[in-house]
Amino acid sequence: MQNPYEVIPADVYEVIQESPLIRTLRFKPKKPITFKTGQFIEVGIPGIGEGPFTPSSSHYIVDDMDVTIMKTGFLTEQVHKLHAGATIGIRGPFGSNYPLEKFKGKDVLILGGGCGLAPLRSLFLTMLHDNKDYNSITFLAGAKTPKDCIYKDEVSEWRKYDNVRFIRAVDEVPPGEQWAEDVCLVTKLLQKINMKPDGNPAIVCGPPVMMKFGTFDLLKYGYKEENLYLSMEKKMYCGFGQCRHCVIGGYYACKDGPVFTYDQIKNEEAIWD
Ligand SMILES: Cc1cc2nc3c(=O)[nH]c(=O)nc-3n(C[C@H](O)[C@H](O)[C@H](O)COP(=O)(O)OP(=O)(O)OC[C@H]3O[C@@H](n4cnc5c(N)ncnc54)[C@H](O)[C@@H]3O)c2cc1C
Ligand code: FES
Repeated sequence: MQNPYEVIPADVYEVIQESPLIRTLRFKPKKPITFKTGQFIEVGIPGIGEGPFTPSSSHYIVDDMDVTIMKTGFLTEQVHKLHAGATIGIRGPFGSNYPLEKFKGKDVLILGGGCGLAPLRSLFLTMLHDNKDYNSITFLAGAKTPKDCIYKDEVSEWRKYDNVRFIRAVDEVPPGEQWAEDVCLVTKLLQKINMKPDGNPAIVCGPPVMMKFGTFDLLKYGYKEENLYLSMEKKMYCGFGQCRHCVIGGYYACKDGPVFTYDQIKNEEAIWD
């Protein structure tokens, strides 16, 4: 990792309104940022503050990056006010990554919902780059309603690969909205697919309640604790193990995570909060 305090300026050149609350910012850092998919960066707005976000783009692209950000409070509201031409500051990358070398040759299952799809898009795009290295890739993606679905314009491209399945579900379809795909909780999609839990990895990211029940379902279907990868979002400040804001039991989420296997953290307190 480069100097963890160094702020690299980056020029925002496109802002995509993915859903009413979620935007993707595309930017070019003034200096290439090399990261491994699953790691996070600190995104800052000069004079406002900074927060941890995971790049949602492939780790093979180092001079151009996407972050997908949900509006939840003060900082993210300011991020949502940015337009093409704005300058932001990036620190990092920080933390652990998805161990792609362990996924090669396997049937990889990705389960996510809401803004948890951001790190999963990075993982998915990185794997698509070498898709023949994986036996199969199944991506189950959930959203509350059709208008909350993100990355809508990319789905048809993602469905073109022979060994890739991308299946979406929404919790409900309000009157006036159109939807021709599944209507159920995203975890219910697990019952629709021919799962191959034996020795294969599953990667989960989403709202805490989805991660909790998704993890329990995957264990019930036979996935091993050590093959379940969870991206844990804890309150973070420094991003590199100095401030203790992000402690999960004996771990620092910023340094030892954010990617943990379930068997690493299953006995720690309040992991789903
Ligand atoms: C490793 C990591 C990666 C992340 N990646 C993304 C991402 O790709 N896209 C995205 O939209 N968000 C991501 N987050 C969450 C994001 O950092 C917070 O939503 C953001 O910092 C909230 O700032 P705020 O000032 O707008 O909201 P605040 O007013 O600070 O908080 C609003 C709500 O968000 C919760 N919150 C605040 N900070 C965090 C935090 N660090 N983690 C989890 N919840 C938080 C608060 O408890 C509160 O409920 C990530 C968090 C971590 C730790
Ligand atoms: S964010 Fe400071 S120790 Fe983890």
